[in-house]
Order: sequence, then structure tokens, then C-alpha cells
Amino acid sequence: MKKTVLIVFAQPEPASLTRQFVDLARDTLQGQGHEVLLSDLYAMQWKAVFDEQDFPHRADPRRLSFVAESGHAWRQGHQPPDIALEQRKLLSADAVILAFPLWWFSMPAILKGWVERVFAYGLAYGYQDAGNRYRYGEGGLQGKRALLSVMVGGPGTDYSARGINGPLEQLLFPITHGTLFFAGMEVLPTHAVYGTGHITAQAVDAAKAVWRRRVERLFDDVPIAFRPQNGGDYVDGHVLADHVAPGQRGLDAHVAQHGPAWHGEPMRRELPA
Ligand SMILES: Cc1cc2nc3c(=O)[nH]c(=O)nc-3n(C[C@H](O)[C@H](O)[C@H](O)COP(=O)(O)O)c2cc1C
Repeated sequence: MKKTVLIVFAQPEPASLTRQFVDLARDTLQGQGHEVLLSDLYAMQWKAVFDEQDFPHRADPRRLSFVAESGHAWRQGHQPPDIALEQRKLLSADAVILAFPLWWFSMPAILKGWVERVFAYGLAYGYQDAGNRYRYGEGGLQGKRALLSVMVGGPGTDYSARGINGPLEQLLFPITHGTLFFAGMEVLPTHAVYGTGHITAQAVDAAKAVWRRRVERLFDDVPIAFRPQNGGDYVDGHVLADHVAPGQRGLDAHVAQHGPAWHGEPMRRELPA
């Protein structure tokens, strides 16, 4: 069945690995008969900074509350056109791919600014104006899939189970869990290419073959088993019940089944030789 996929990417250089992988994803998806929407943030000169200019008709001109003004602007249809356009693209998509080079263990600022400005109160959080009632698996983006395509300068060993940087999937938890799953999306295991600083043409080709297969399975792969807020594991909607994941603490406890990626293993397997 024909689907719509939005690819949002943050790399201005056409020859970059990020862009090569975006092009490959676009071609692969279109080859499968899907519609592809692109948000080339640098080419769009995307305004990365979330500030008072985003609220031309303030609910409260005396004190700027980003949350309250975000909800007000969303409800009243008073958002700047660049935000409204990206929200329309997002809402029309069955899946979203965020493609970026890893910068300081996270996404580049321009992409973070896309999230801050596009993920409005009433849409991605505060869904239905109900505070935290619908979050983590429920909310305005429920039913959509999400996938990160990340280019990583450091070698895979630095991100392996006991590597010095920590497993990439855990480092990206604020994006996969705190942003995409928070807003209701099903998040697939992250796709990463490591060692991009010194990668050979042969390794790039091998990595592209792996990526093509991941893209082909965009609507088939099993999402990360993040625990939904309202699935019974969090009795009060805040803290895990005592019988859930006993003895586990921290990030580990919020994933019902840990795929190898969680501990840094499939990355090594998928790492081009
Ligand atoms: C500002 C900046 C921050 C970076 N931070 C990291 C990092 O935290 N970890 C890492 O492994 N590589 C880091 N790198 C290296 C990039 O990940 C690398 O340049 C990128 O993967 C190359 O992909 P591209 O061709 O798509 O730009 C950083 C590079 C820059 C410019």
C-alpha cells in the first residue's frame, strides 16, 4: 500500500554521507511506490531558534510562556507559516526519517530547532489540551513510525556494549523516547554508520546496502519496545509499578525487551568491515 514518508535532514553538503543516505532512502521508497516529502533544513534556511517571533498574537503579552503560547498559537491557527507547513507535512506522513550527522552526541541545532518549533503543545505534547494524559505511545503523532539515520564520526567500538562513549541507542534516548515516542510514534531501532571520519568507499557501499534493506523494511521492522504510559506499567502515569522490571533502574527499565541494539551489539554486526 502506498504510504507517505517525510525525511527531515540536517546537512547542507550534498556530498556528505548524510545526504547520500537521504538520496538512497528517497530513491528506495519511491521505488517501492511510496510518496516522499523532504525537509532540507539548511536549504530551507530553517529558523532554528524558538523565540517570541513565533507568537505573533500572544495570549499574554506581559510574560512569555512558551508552553502556553505554543498551545494558544496552535489552537488559534496563529503559527508562522513555516511551522504550519512542516506540521502539515508531519501529519500527512505515515513515517518520518530524521537524518543527521551526530554532533556532540545529539542532532545538529537546526534539527533540534525543527523539533522545538514544529512539535507544538496540543499536537506533540499536551495532546487534546489534556496535559500529560496522552504521552509515551499516545498523542497527536500516534500511528506513525519514526527512524533515525545517524552518521557517526567515531568508531563502532567506542559505541559498543562497553565502549567509552556508551551505546548509541542509549545516548539517543532523549530523541527516540523523550521526543518521538513521547509524541506517540513507534520508533524503530536507530540506523547508524560508524567511523565516518575515515571510511573507505568500499565500506560506504557496504553501509548503503545495509541502509537500503532497513529502508525497505520501514513498515515491517519491529519498533523499540518502549513502555507506553497508559499500558498498565506506570500505575500513576509517572513511575513504574513495583512488579515491572524489578531491580532495573534508569533507562533500561523503560524498555520492555532489550534488542541487541540497546546494548550496542547490532551496530557492530552491521558495521562495514
Ligand atoms: C560539531 C561536530 C560535533 C561532532 N560530534 C561528534 C560526536 O559527538 N561523536 C562522534 O562520533 N562524532 C562527532 N562528530 C563527527 C561527525 O559525526 C562526522 O563528521 C559525521 O558523521 C560525518 O557525516 P556527514 O558526512 O554526513 O557529515 C562531530 C562533528 C562535528 C562537526
